[in-house]
Amino acid sequence: MDVLIAEKRIQELTQELEHYNYEYYVLSTPSISDYEFDLKLKELQDLETNFPQFAYENAPTKRVGGDITKKFETIEHQYKMLSLSNSYSQEEILDFEARIRKLIEYPIAFVCELKYDGVAIGVRYEKGELKLAVTRGDGEKGENITANVKTIRSIPLKLKGFDYPEEFEIRGEIFMNRRDFQQLNQDRLNSGEDPFMNPRNTTSGTLKMQDSSIVAKRNLDSFLYFVYGEKLPFENHIDCIRKASEWGFKVPSEKKNYIKVCKTIDEVMDFINYWDKERFNLDFDIDGIVIKVNSLSAQEELGFTSKFPRWAIAYKFKAESVSTILESVSYQVGRTGAITPVANLKPVLLGGTTVKRASLHNADQIQKLDIHEKDVVFVEKGGEIIPKITGVDKTKRESKALPVEFISTCPECITPLVKQEGEALHYCPNQQSCPPQIIGKINHFIGRKAMNIDGLGEETIELLYRKGLVRKISDLYRLTFDELYQLENFKEKKAENILTGLEISKSIPFERVLFALGIRFVGETVAKKIAKYFKSIDKVASATVEELLAVNEIGEVIANSLAAYFQEPENVNLITELKTFGLQLSVSEENMQEQTDILSGEIFVVSGVFSRLSRDEIKALIESNGGKNSSSISSKTNYIIAGENMGPSKLEKANQLGIAIISENEFLDRIQYK
Ligand code: IVH
Repeated sequence: MDVLIAEKRIQELTQELEHYNYEYYVLSTPSISDYEFDLKLKELQDLETNFPQFAYENAPTKRVGGDITKKFETIEHQYKMLSLSNSYSQEEILDFEARIRKLIEYPIAFVCELKYDGVAIGVRYEKGELKLAVTRGDGEKGENITANVKTIRSIPLKLKGFDYPEEFEIRGEIFMNRRDFQQLNQDRLNSGEDPFMNPRNTTSGTLKMQDSSIVAKRNLDSFLYFVYGEKLPFENHIDCIRKASEWGFKVPSEKKNYIKVCKTIDEVMDFINYWDKERFNLDFDIDGIVIKVNSLSAQEELGFTSKFPRWAIAYKFKAESVSTILESVSYQVGRTGAITPVANLKPVLLGGTTVKRASLHNADQIQKLDIHEKDVVFVEKGGEIIPKITGVDKTKRESKALPVEFISTCPECITPLVKQEGEALHYCPNQQSCPPQIIGKINHFIGRKAMNIDGLGEETIELLYRKGLVRKISDLYRLTFDELYQLENFKEKKAENILTGLEISKSIPFERVLFALGIRFVGETVAKKIAKYFKSIDKVASATVEELLAVNEIGEVIANSLAAYFQEPENVNLITELKTFGLQLSVSEENMQEQTDILSGEIFVVSGVFSRLSRDEIKALIESNGGKNSSSISSKTNYIIAGENMGPSKLEKANQLGIAIISENEFLDRIQYK
């Protein structure tokens, strides 16, 4: 490509992509599809590789991360990063107003905002470009986490418009929304890792990770709420927020009532009361309301005490807490053998729902709370779905009540439990025959992100286990039509669906099979890396810990876990059996395609005979690009990939339902297969 054309195209794509990013992550109104976005991003990435001299420091390609920070540099804040004085009652808010009215005689308005329960950040812009992002630290000095903050899509790398100050700092809060937090924890549990406690701690830990590409995957978000600079061009705080929005920042929405100008303290109280009830319906955590004086000159006049601004105050919501009786403690056994204690409570109403159970996390937590049998306990709802026990009312404890003792043997198979040093959880080591571990492993194997087997769900697995038909993963592939058909409520169609689903799963690529095996600490990303590196299960199985450690980002915990897995004769037998059943336990160079999400959410039916690839190869490509295979055409089908000799009944059905029929070449072009 001509150098001048490349330079111009890099500039064009950089601007376009940053704008699409803004539409998607700040305005939530995307104007192009993810597919089109990915194509443009890929084009820019390729151009930047070939013409690095034209790549921008703040290019949108930086959003995917990759920069490693070995040690976070300490930076002195230009403007001290203070916190706010807290209040918990209406009286304290009235006092706050009275103090201000004494000092300022002219009429003033307040701005009420949500108090985001995240991590404070200060971000410096020069000439419209993000230059530096610093944590609060001790308020005087913080840590330079610029590389990580650049991956947060709602924080602009380059500002919009032209009227921003030459240099300024914007402060705000970084957070993780509840859905992403729950998903992350689910993924961690799936790969045998301990779940994180809450979105705030997770955000804080994420921002301190050395590898920014992991930060990029965590979907952190932001709200910006204050601008610092010399001679700023506004009179009021609300104008400043509105302007920041024009420059491309994600600021609290006035439409959604996340921020409001209030002329009277009654309006302030209405805002507080509204969010005290509504906060549970937000998809991110807040822990109160912040009330700020709107006029910036009044803010200046009021100034600061030694610790806080006089022009703002935080109203903290009381965590809704109720007391109830602990009826018993039960212990759940997870797929990896992890034991989770759960408190069974006398049902009690909390935040609009009846609570019967609360998580007790682990043995240390039970000890820390000093819980005794039949104790009266305090239950609170945090950002997590399951409420937690925050304390015990010792005054109500019966004198003979015994402390709750953590179990020493597995509640399902009575094997003595083990606890490794440095780990929070106890484990049942009987991986091969402890029923919930076996069922959990099979459920993980059939799951959407693993083998994604149509027709099989947790209930069916439970039933198959109870009937003795499936006792290990490989038994699934031994199931016969007759065995399934004779099961309660099983019709012909259901039995057939399961068998077809299992057949289709034989074309699932190796990296997903490796993930599906449920080896502790081997999540989706790790499985991909290992599959790409070793290319076959035999090579992984025979690798030494040192050889495993040679894979980028594979540390000792994962390497030891893999090595231990392949030392178990049962696991080696399982692999041999799966190989005989025809599952993909190695990758050939040609289907060693990069994984993409290009076909995410799309369902394909592949039918007929093809010229460039085999039917199984096409199916594997669908899977490795994020799509789903189905054996029969229904209204849910998005595309039929038709080869020669596609059956006439399929053709008729496709036409009836108006489903797009595409050729092998059209499909391969779509996924950019070379
Ligand atoms: S204004 C000079 N506004 O709460 C103080 N802070 O306890 C400027 N926070 O340090 C802060 N939401 O980390 C402000 N809407 C909001 C906020 C907010 C959350 C955090 C922030 C602050 C802490 C104070």
